[in-house]
Amino acid sequence: MDLIEAIVNRKTTNTAFAFKKVSKEHIRLLIKMASHAPSHFNSQPWKFIVIEDSKIISAIGKIAGDSMVKLMDDGRFWKQYRKYFRFSEEEIEKTKDGIHIDHLPAFLKPFAKTIFSEAGGKVISKFKVSRILGNDEEKLVAESPLLFVILLTKEEYKKDELSGFYSVISMGAVIQTLWLVTTSIGMGMQFISTPGEIPQKWNEISLMLDVPDNYEMMAIFRMGYTVPDIKRPSIDWKSSQRKDVSELSYSNRFGKNPDFVT
Ligand SMILES: Cc1cc2nc3c(=O)[nH]c(=O)nc-3n(C[C@H](O)[C@H](O)[C@H](O)COP(=O)(O)O)c2cc1C
Repeated sequence: MDLIEAIVNRKTTNTAFAFKKVSKEHIRLLIKMASHAPSHFNSQPWKFIVIEDSKIISAIGKIAGDSMVKLMDDGRFWKQYRKYFRFSEEEIEKTKDGIHIDHLPAFLKPFAKTIFSEAGGKVISKFKVSRILGNDEEKLVAESPLLFVILLTKEEYKKDELSGFYSVISMGAVIQTLWLVTTSIGMGMQFISTPGEIPQKWNEISLMLDVPDNYEMMAIFRMGYTVPDIKRPSIDWKSSQRKDVSELSYSNRFGKNPDFVT
């Protein structure tokens, strides 16, 4: 696949993957390509853990599902993320950002806006929305053939220092590299970030993976081969819209209309 094509086709895989192990060649390729990412002074501040053990994957699935339920039930999720939710093509067209919650069980559709609002607590508990989302999350993770974990060495990842900032930028390059390579070989990936929002859950995973004290676990992804037209989770979103070049850029000075836009 051509690079431009891979960039345009890359997207988050919200759906289940094929029930097929990821080949050793593909795992090696992913790590090899990730190793080519830039880093400050070529420090390569990372280690990767590739999880294929189904017991560990299921245990992380359970933690991810429980984290999702907890974040929803205590209202944090809605409060923090409500501003990113869109409910119609018109809204998407207007803002060109956020995620479009376009897939809901029929019984929830009339309540869409209420559920995804701060005031939605009652509807959420009545229809057990957090459980639906938690179960979906657990199943998606637990049934993934592979989880990919990125660690940063604390020698470089020092939160209030420049090297910490540079390490995070470098890790971003690794993540995009992984995303493009998976896209080009018929695989997909999805962030598993809910446990990262609850320190105790994140710690549980870190301990399970024997992450040593001098490394920080930074990100976990589920990965696998994609299946076209596969059934979507009960509550799902899409987010392929992007702002236009003319909205994103300026020429020479902030605010000056770009001269490369036709
Ligand atoms: C730092 C970061 C955290 C993210 N966390 C999640 C997540 O927890 N679950 C998820 O499904 N997607 C997650 N995403 C994916 C974004 O929602 C997604 O990239 C965005 O909506 C654009 O969609 P696309 O990747 O399909 O182009 C995350 C992305 C980033 C960069």
